[in-house]
Amino acid sequence: MANPTPTTLDKIISLCRRRGFIFQSSEIYGGLNACYDYGPLGVELKRNVKDFWWNWMVRRRRDVVGLDAAILMAPRVWEASGHVAGFTDPMVDCKVCKRRFRADMVPEPGKCPECGGQMTDIRQFNLMFKTFMGAVEDSASVVYLRPETAQGIYVNYRNVLDSSRQKVPFGIGQIGKAFRNEITTENFIFRTREFEQMEMQFFVKPGTDMEWFESWKEDRKNYYSALGINPAKTRFHQHGEDELAHYAAAAFDIQYEFPFGWKELEGIHNRTDFDLKRHQEYAGVDLSYFDEVTRERYVPYIIETSAGVDRTMLCILCDAFEEQELEKDTRTVLHFHPAIAPVKAGIFPLVKKEGMPEIAHQIEAMLQPYYAVFYDESGAVGRRYRRQDEVGTPFCITVDTETLENETVTVRDRDTMQQERMKIAELTAFLHKKING
Ligand code: GAP
Repeated sequence: MANPTPTTLDKIISLCRRRGFIFQSSEIYGGLNACYDYGPLGVELKRNVKDFWWNWMVRRRRDVVGLDAAILMAPRVWEASGHVAGFTDPMVDCKVCKRRFRADMVPEPGKCPECGGQMTDIRQFNLMFKTFMGAVEDSASVVYLRPETAQGIYVNYRNVLDSSRQKVPFGIGQIGKAFRNEITTENFIFRTREFEQMEMQFFVKPGTDMEWFESWKEDRKNYYSALGINPAKTRFHQHGEDELAHYAAAAFDIQYEFPFGWKELEGIHNRTDFDLKRHQEYAGVDLSYFDEVTRERYVPYIIETSAGVDRTMLCILCDAFEEQELEKDTRTVLHFHPAIAPVKAGIFPLVKKEGMPEIAHQIEAMLQPYYAVFYDESGAVGRRYRRQDEVGTPFCITVDTETLENETVTVRDRDTMQQERMKIAELTAFLHKKING
């Protein structure tokens, strides 16, 4: 039987593997399910995604500051947050093939979707990874790998307030790893067991929370457009009563239309005063805020924006991917926004002689302090352009015979495939304008 036609996601997975964006974790040992490693291009893309978020959410604003909290936290944190009691998914096992499923993902209750076998009753399965701290493995030394970065922010709320001269309303942003022992993992890096989150918690006066909630919704939608994501492929999804997390009074997802359907990219939640009040109670410390202007004391409400780094990367890859049928062949292009493209410019000598490689290396050395660039002298120049198109390099700079006469080069645009000629001395400013807008 012929192989079924690969879907867009299959093609993206294959490109990511082939070109060094993303590999299966521990591949030489047969791979570890739902864990991935980022290769040379993947790690550049990931850094750029995180920088873009950090600049937008923290550096651009006077009312948001950053934090980097430890992954391991006092276990009481997770009791206070409700995760020990409530961070569970309903799970069922097949009595015949022994496969495990999330109960709400089984189309016919009681029947295994894989083998048709009989299923067990539903049990609640806690998604937190447990480990032990210190040399003794007993219940007193249990610690959890954090399932969200948010709690590290809440327990530092007072530290930040006391040390940074912020006043409510203000926010704390953080990027870091989170871990969930997901029952069902799916769609490449969409749902994994180890992933990174980019979260911002905004502390506001009760009563102003819904206004701030709406303002952050708007801001986060604009962010994805600025990141270069097609706005027609993003939308809001409001959580119904049955979907709301245990801490949320209101929640919207920003969804993206992935090749496998509309799915959550980011969650925006009104967490009320749930978290701070719980930490007050469990830690026995006062987390209220005294407003010196109105002379009021209150426990702030929290508006949270929570995005996944890996899921954003999958969204960017899906959104950027295109196969163009040209006259003679098919061109694979990743139309990344220049700010997040892993390589900003390819640098090519047209031929490996007449001093062209030396000039190309000089250009490489001139741009390297500012941008990730890639020098390539092997094969026909057309092939070199295609190799860069496939990894989303927005510009290719070629040194040719005219360069030897007047110190100009051609700069080829990935999307239009048009070339323009400019002075070598103008390259840095040109790239700066294109990348930073
Ligand atoms: N602090 C709130 C919170 O964690 P969430 O909706 O559970 O909310 C926020 O997660 C974001 O984290 C999601 O929108 C998604 O981008 C990312 N995320 C959650 N679970 C994930 C997983 N298993 N794999 C990859 N990304 C995940």
